[in-house]
Amino acid sequence: MADKIVVAFDMYGTLLSTDSISKQLEIYFGPDMAPSIATLWRRYQLEYTWRLNSMATMDSSGYSTCLMLLILLEQYEDFAAVTRNSLRHALNELGQQLQDNEIESLIKAYDNLHTFPDVGPALNRIANNLSIRAVIFSNGTKDMISNSVLRSADLSKHASIFSDLVTVDEIKKYKPSPITYQHAAKKVGKELSQMGEIWLVSSNPFDVVGARTAGMNAIWVDRAARGWQDAVSPGVKPTAIVHSLEQVVTEINNKH
Ligand code: LAC
Repeated sequence: MADKIVVAFDMYGTLLSTDSISKQLEIYFGPDMAPSIATLWRRYQLEYTWRLNSMATMDSSGYSTCLMLLILLEQYEDFAAVTRNSLRHALNELGQQLQDNEIESLIKAYDNLHTFPDVGPALNRIANNLSIRAVIFSNGTKDMISNSVLRSADLSKHASIFSDLVTVDEIKKYKPSPITYQHAAKKVGKELSQMGEIWLVSSNPFDVVGARTAGMNAIWVDRAARGWQDAVSPGVKPTAIVHSLEQVVTEINNKH
């Protein structure tokens, strides 16, 4: 029997709406302010991951006059810490404050984000497709991913379709570092020469470009039908663009 096609679903922003945290933010800030806090929070959450990926402290203890040995110690905070710290940043910037216990209740609510409306029907289609092996591949920690996939109200009913929950936390680097995509490949039993046999499905353009650059196929979920704008690496484009997650299986079948 032919190998199954591996489809790796990004989680935040693709299956789960990070904007849906607005409902909890409304408790403290009301409906006018909550969406802008949610947007800024998400912006800093991602920005922090990219900044951490780029930073290192320098340990020059091995320095000698004949041999300059500079050791770079990479910086890493896990995604739960990044999520908490970026919330504080967003609140400060908007001149808002919360007590520690209120921050903790928002972080807890982050494990119960709502899915986008197309997620349920799309995952049901995949559950009936014997040639696809679906996994989650996310920046989230193992706890965050498990809480969201196995216990959240919206996603837990589809938990059984995912054969693996892959987190970058195991290698302490964030997307779009190439080693995160290589890590995902390793976790699903693929060699580096088989990267093209994995399909990332993501609404995050930076994730799509990262996956394509690392050799994966990648489907961009453009729910707002805005069209591809990302030009960080102008020659790199998604393998396919869909407007609904429900089109993913058809696209893979067309291109496979
Ligand atoms: C994730 C980020 C991209 O779930 O939100 O990996």
